[in-house]
Amino acid sequence: MGDIPAGPEASPKRWPFAMRRNLVRPQSAVPTRRGAATSRRSDDIFEGEFAARWIKGMGTYGDPIRTSLVNPIVAFVADHFVANPLRPQDRSPRNLIQQALYKVADELANATYRPQDRPLHQWHADAERLAALYPHLKKSVVWDLGCGEGYLGRWLAAQGATCVGVEPSKPLFTHASAKATPTTPLFPPTIDEFLKHHARQCLDWKPTLMTLIAVLDGCRDPDRTLDQINSFMRKNLIDIPLLVTTFDPDFFCAGLPKNPVNSGSIRIFETDHPFTMRDPAEWELTFADHNFHVLDQRPIHLDTLPPNLTRYVLDLCRDQILFNADTVDLIAPRQGPFYFWIIAP
Ligand SMILES: C[S@@+](CC[C@H](N)C(=O)[O-])C[C@H]1O[C@@H](n2cnc3c(N)ncnc32)[C@H](O)[C@@H]1O
Repeated sequence: MGDIPAGPEASPKRWPFAMRRNLVRPQSAVPTRRGAATSRRSDDIFEGEFAARWIKGMGTYGDPIRTSLVNPIVAFVADHFVANPLRPQDRSPRNLIQQALYKVADELANATYRPQDRPLHQWHADAERLAALYPHLKKSVVWDLGCGEGYLGRWLAAQGATCVGVEPSKPLFTHASAKATPTTPLFPPTIDEFLKHHARQCLDWKPTLMTLIAVLDGCRDPDRTLDQINSFMRKNLIDIPLLVTTFDPDFFCAGLPKNPVNSGSIRIFETDHPFTMRDPAEWELTFADHNFHVLDQRPIHLDTLPPNLTRYVLDLCRDQILFNADTVDLIAPRQGPFYFWIIAP
């Protein structure tokens, strides 16, 4: 399908879907239709000084958000779908993201949260314990699309899993490669290029899960990327889930107008990144546009986490992202930083 024409001149008969999505679109909103919003910007590929800061900030197992929230969810979901592969036609809703966090509730409640530490560091290092918690994880094959400096693949490989990483940033790819093992093969193109030119050769490592952790928001054209992933999966009979995180706009840009899509700027590691911020309902429509079913979706309601962790995450937001206590107070209802999704073709 080509670009959908913008604004009021679009015919509601011809483009009912686009019209439905753009019923209310104040001046500051960014058009949502395929290609229109995205052609003005490029992929947010991490380079230069920022890439160096990113590598440092990620540390051994990822930054504090990843060690406390993302990694336990990835492990749980990867383990789950090895033990319970998707069945054809079964696209019923599940509650895995919440279960994943219940599984580490005690660890999260008892962790110490200090800015210099990574919560659950010991937990990540304890392969024996992780094997007991996630007995099928070692059989998982995760394609980590936009893998950054490779923390996730390294950690999963230490649990016996295989993790194919795709990362177009030169410094991040170089860092990930320097630390890679035979069970963490890495590829340097964008996701689109990888799927076009390399992915078929990787089918010896047929994936049991694909992950897109904080990647889609930074892609030049996430619609195109989702389309390519979907058609690659269909052509190659890959019937597996994707674990996706998208930015929660209320966390990163608290106080945005109530549009489904906004231009925003996110401050990460002292650098401002221009972003197109889509709210979760807009992402849900985007996934549906590209023939993905949503199996599970969940914001992180910070108020339901152990109070120390809630405070810690909001402090990170205050100190590193928003710089303004008043704006942090706007994060409602105390949610973020990521919205978690499990989708499947
Ligand atoms: C916020 S980082 C997340 C990295 C990693 N997934 C993580 O959780 O730390 C986003 C990453 O996506 C990469 N990226 C941006 N556009 C991309 C594209 N079109 N294909 C693949 N990776 C891309 C960036 O270079 C960056 O490493």
